[in-house]
Amino acid sequence: MHPAQMEIINSPKRFKVVAAGRRFGKSYLSAVTLLVEGLKSVNEYGYKLGVDKVVYYVSPTFQQSKDIMWKLLKQLGQGVIDSVLENTGVLRLVNGREIHLKGSDRPDTLRGVGISYVVLDEYASMKPNVWEEILRPTLADVKGGALFIGTPAGKNHFYKLFTAHAKDKDWSTFSYKTVDNPFLDKGEIKNAKNTMSRATFKQEFEASFSVQGGSTLNPENLVEGSEPSEGTYYMAVDPAGFSEADASSSKYASHDETAIAVCKVSTSGWYVPDIIHGRWDVRETAIRILRTAQTYRPAAIGIEKGSLKNALMPYLQDTMLRIGTFPNITEVTHGGQKKIERIVWALQGRLEHGRIIVPPGKPFLDKLKDQMSDLFSSALQSSPASTLSASPSITAGWPALSTRFFNLTKSEVDSGRATITGRER
Ligand SMILES: Nc1ncnc2c1ncn2[C@@H]1O[C@H](COP(=O)(O)OP(=O)(O)OP(=O)(O)O)[C@@H](O)[C@H]1O
Ligand SMILES: [Mg+2]
Repeated sequence: MHPAQMEIINSPKRFKVVAAGRRFGKSYLSAVTLLVEGLKSVNEYGYKLGVDKVVYYVSPTFQQSKDIMWKLLKQLGQGVIDSVLENTGVLRLVNGREIHLKGSDRPDTLRGVGISYVVLDEYASMKPNVWEEILRPTLADVKGGALFIGTPAGKNHFYKLFTAHAKDKDWSTFSYKTVDNPFLDKGEIKNAKNTMSRATFKQEFEASFSVQGGSTLNPENLVEGSEPSEGTYYMAVDPAGFSEADASSSKYASHDETAIAVCKVSTSGWYVPDIIHGRWDVRETAIRILRTAQTYRPAAIGIEKGSLKNALMPYLQDTMLRIGTFPNITEVTHGGQKKIERIVWALQGRLEHGRIIVPPGKPFLDKLKDQMSDLFSSALQSSPASTLSASPSITAGWPALSTRFFNLTKSEVDSGRATITGRER
């Protein structure tokens, strides 16, 4: 255990609330706590803990509990584990007492047994009523304790719990940063700080509650500059919906804007030389995409998977044959994230660190800045994402699709690693 973990585990308080940065060692501490609690035969209040009193590990879902905790528990518990039941996530210790892995999404599975201790990991992502309504009452028999642990996610129920019991004698609260884990590489954290948005860094690495899903797509953060000499071009297409305007000719007409974003990915940032947008029918859309590809020779063109791409593909293939240009067209998926989140993840950190560069004076800039301002102010009012995605062509002009296009995960985007790797085939 590292010193910060020791401080928490040594606290004699019945209820502990720990807000800690990512990778602090929350799950590791949880595992040790579970084993320590499970091995007790009597607790601080003198209650005998028989085999009927179990210890719970609860995370947002049962699967998550298995993923996070199962291997770790078996590893750390070597020598004190008697047997395990894989399917149900039950681990029996040598004294006959059990540790049960649970998911807060299934409250019905949390009822019915007496518990002597519960660890609630990733508490900020849990349904709050599980504690008050189900877990708290089952601890009553033996005055059992609880460890709430997680990385903040704005001022939600975790924050309320953290602040509500500040003066309560049975409770204590702890706050630690990621850097308090001495087993982590300091360079990695520094690297993250240099590329992530301040807001995200403070929340994720410094366990700050003050950040409300921070969105700072501030157009003032766009840096004007010239094209970096090295780098690779990519294109991302956000197609408009095409409707069959005229069934007899089966021509597709467009009812919102299509945007074709060009982006040069280089070690000094993303350079966006052009964003071509407009209301075109599907045939013109195909031609414009391929003309742009002829100009920039992108390593790949990403188009979001789905019916819009399917409508476009035959026209693209047809035009490719006609004009003799055969770019690498790639299907982009976005893993079910909301559009606004994708955009924010992809761009926020880069923008703040001046890593999105645009050429000065281009006509597309005005429209881009307008749309960013809309997004920016809506995000500040924290309006629901649904209202944002309803606004047409909100991404018009943005290589937002490129989150997936460049095969990025959130952490890669945040750390900036993906900027350099791009995607290679
Ligand atoms: N006491 C410890 N001794 C050795 N390694 C540790 C210790 N505590 C944490 N670690 C290591 O630090 C890393 C992060 O630990 P852990 O997964 O517990 O953190 P976490 O806060 O739960 O992270 P996340 O935010 O991703 O859920 C892991 O590689 C883990 O093995
Ligand atoms: Mg964890």
